[in-house]
Amino acid sequence: MLCLGIETSCDETAAAVVEDGRVALSDVVSTQIDIHRRWGGVIPELASRNHVIQVMPVIDEALKRAGKSLTDLDVIAVTSGPGLQGALLVGLQVAKSLSLATGVPLVGVNHLEGHLLAIRLVADAPEPPFLGLVVSGGHTSLYEVPAFGTYRRLGTTRDDAAGEAYDKVARLLGLQYPGGQPIDALAQTGDPKAIAFPRAMKSHEVLDWSFSGLKTAVLNHVQLHGVPTGQALADLCASFQEAVADALTRKLILGAKKVGATQLVICGGVAANSRLRALAEERAVDAGMKLYLPPKRLCTDNGAMIAVAGAEAFRRGVRADLSLNSDPSWRLS
Ligand code: KG4
Ligand code: ZN
Repeated sequence: MLCLGIETSCDETAAAVVEDGRVALSDVVSTQIDIHRRWGGVIPELASRNHVIQVMPVIDEALKRAGKSLTDLDVIAVTSGPGLQGALLVGLQVAKSLSLATGVPLVGVNHLEGHLLAIRLVADAPEPPFLGLVVSGGHTSLYEVPAFGTYRRLGTTRDDAAGEAYDKVARLLGLQYPGGQPIDALAQTGDPKAIAFPRAMKSHEVLDWSFSGLKTAVLNHVQLHGVPTGQALADLCASFQEAVADALTRKLILGAKKVGATQLVICGGVAANSRLRALAEERAVDAGMKLYLPPKRLCTDNGAMIAVAGAEAFRRGVRADLSLNSDPSWRLS
């Protein structure tokens, strides 16, 4: 079964062809990061305009690299939410037009379900039930996944997403957008114990997070000591990174114990973070749980994850028609 996945919910124009919901025959991502970088964040109107320019060449390239044509497809999957309204509409209109022109069935995919199922593209992927932590620029939520298509949210951030905190702290430090990678790189030579940044929501009763206090603590530090350079900058990055990884992994393990989960998945852009990956592995082993991490290129937005989720939905009998619309705040559960 061949599925074309189309993703335009934020600032990556992406398309991929996936076979049997498990094997990516192609995975093409055209990022707009360079366009948005000068503004320090994603400008929705610019994102939409660039999706319009990129979407057809990206789809053509994905089909070409897979050695397939549109008529070989069994299903076309497209992200229909959550995300930026204008950006979502570009992918959606193209997917609907291709479906109408070819007769290939259409499926609308939740972007977060795409992140959760990206792990299906690795060789030893877990079967449900598993616990999935989606941690990206727009979302930080913990989901119980008893079966494909069933998602129960156990916790979420009360304010900023973890990736958003990275991006805002990077901005404070004069680092480029998006901030995750540069902070991660600087943290490698820093001391994570140099600055005792706060951990919010420590109660074992809740599985939620809060990152705005941590962001304010970094701001206060910078206002008091100035923007650090050299070793002091590396120390600040490592201390901030430790606070985020500690908070994320603590609630992940706590959530797993609460629902009796033994298989854990971390996904989304922040899942590319080196300290989060290492600490989660350490704590999962200590708790006798098995952790599954997608390779870094499958953590950030891509079309393959949308094709995987689309193929799974198609298998369950999900179909969309041409009335499919975008839902910028579509909740997974
Ligand atoms: O999943 P994604 O590509 O887009 C959203 O759906 O939001 O995630 C992008 C986010 C950005 O906030 C970026 O700073 C963060 O992922 N990110 C990282 C790393 N690489 C990307 N955060 C921490 N460490 C990284 N290595
Ligand atoms: Zn994403």
